[in-house]
Amino acid sequence: LVVGWVTTSEYLLFEVLPPGNEIGIKDGKISCLGTSLPRSPHTQIIDAKGGMITPGGVDSHVHFAQDNSPTGDDFTTGSRSAIAGGTTTVIAFASQLKTEQSVLPCIEEYHTRAKDQTYCDYGFHLILTNPTPNIMRTEMPLLIEQGITSVKLYMTYEPLKLGDSQLLDVLMSARTLGFTTMVHAENSDIISLITDRLEANGHTAPYFHAISRPQIAENEATYRIISLAELTSTPILIVHMSSEIAMKHVRKAQTRMLPIHAETCPQYLFLLSERLKGTPQDEFAGAKCVCSPPLRHDPKDLEAMWRGIANGTFTTFSSDHAPSTYDHAGGKKLGIKDGIMRYRDIPNGVPGVETRLPLLFNHAGTKPNSRLSIPRFVQLTSSDPAKLYGLEGVKGNIAPGYDADLVIWYPEKEFEEGGVEIKQENLNHGVDYTPYEGMKVGNWPRLTVLRGKVVWDRDSEGIKGELGDGRFLKRGLGKIVVGRVGDGVQGMLDGERDFWA
Ligand code: URP
Ligand code: ZN
Ligand code: ZN
Ligand code: ZN
Repeated sequence: LVVGWVTTSEYLLFEVLPPGNEIGIKDGKISCLGTSLPRSPHTQIIDAKGGMITPGGVDSHVHFAQDNSPTGDDFTTGSRSAIAGGTTTVIAFASQLKTEQSVLPCIEEYHTRAKDQTYCDYGFHLILTNPTPNIMRTEMPLLIEQGITSVKLYMTYEPLKLGDSQLLDVLMSARTLGFTTMVHAENSDIISLITDRLEANGHTAPYFHAISRPQIAENEATYRIISLAELTSTPILIVHMSSEIAMKHVRKAQTRMLPIHAETCPQYLFLLSERLKGTPQDEFAGAKCVCSPPLRHDPKDLEAMWRGIANGTFTTFSSDHAPSTYDHAGGKKLGIKDGIMRYRDIPNGVPGVETRLPLLFNHAGTKPNSRLSIPRFVQLTSSDPAKLYGLEGVKGNIAPGYDADLVIWYPEKEFEEGGVEIKQENLNHGVDYTPYEGMKVGNWPRLTVLRGKVVWDRDSEGIKGELGDGRFLKRGLGKIVVGRVGDGVQGMLDGERDFWA
């Protein structure tokens, strides 16, 4: 029997756990909560020292070892970074190539890349780039049996994007089979048109990446996918949202009780497009902040995303960790050749799996800079992604029966004066930069516990976990967190859909 002896701060009083409570852990699971839990000479006691305890982070959007990102993080470096930042579960992507008629070998391949190579638990979403009838009818049910119960669809990027009829096919299939559908919503043709014209005018520096993907591209695609989801009566989650105009469609749909979920990411709360201009010495350094959708221009854009965080519009707060190494041997950088910068060739994505929780936690609670409550923090970073992606009962909660995945924070007053400065040299990912360099956060995970094992201890060795600690998570079908399935469609008669759907 392992008992975590947990004395919580006043802060948590009734928000998470009453003070003086203990969390009993047995065989990697939470077995009981209470005061004065039984203990024996063999009981290992972790003193949480009056710090706050939150469930281990569930980062439901990370890209590790993906074919299209040869210099990004792999499962080892990415999951090491995850535990150092309090994340005990990641859901990464297995990506189908358009030429592949079966997705089964692809899934096998990603299993091989992750097996015995991770520090935290993991699952896979399938990126569907060619949803053939055979895949949808015979392979998707197999994947669901194997615990892969979600797909990501792209409305942009030439090698990945689906047209409306393909999007509809997948949504109809999701409606029947119950898998969860994530969508990258940007209008591909708007982006292509602007990119071609920028290029013709010689505007190819990293900053123009942000000009090439205006908010209206996100807005249009968001409204379109919500319409397709409404027509087919299918729950969706729109990933990495960055624009208020687009977010408003989500909010409106939710007000109508449609099961439309949305996600945003740290970069859309903290970073602006000016970062893409690089430094006075090095304009190309802006390449470090190229992601899609792009960083937006105005502090008001960040404010809008913060509102969505606080008011419940967003269901998940994920990192979209998708960085590539910046500096290569011989001074080579991706996206610049013979001194000519071409943002089109800069790999998209920023690192963030390690900094996700500390950055948001810094604004959680009742401090002067707080933007959201602690329970809302827990919902966004752990419990709601767990529910949406079929891990309810396993991850995302401090309750008997759940995996004993915990983050123990420092008591505010004991934490180092002025907070901790985020520095690349202290991070555990495999890439060579962080866009949050120099930013300060008020707390950092002191301990990360994965199924009862301390895998991160900031005050002693740092990483204490071992490769292979992470297990593949066979997920169940996701649960709808927002809205209901089956409500009517705007302008349709009750039962009208029964003729065809
Ligand atoms: O810029 C990003 N987000 N790159 C990763 C791929 C994606 O769209 O999630
Ligand atoms: Zn493949
Ligand atoms: Zn995306
Ligand atoms: Zn992504």
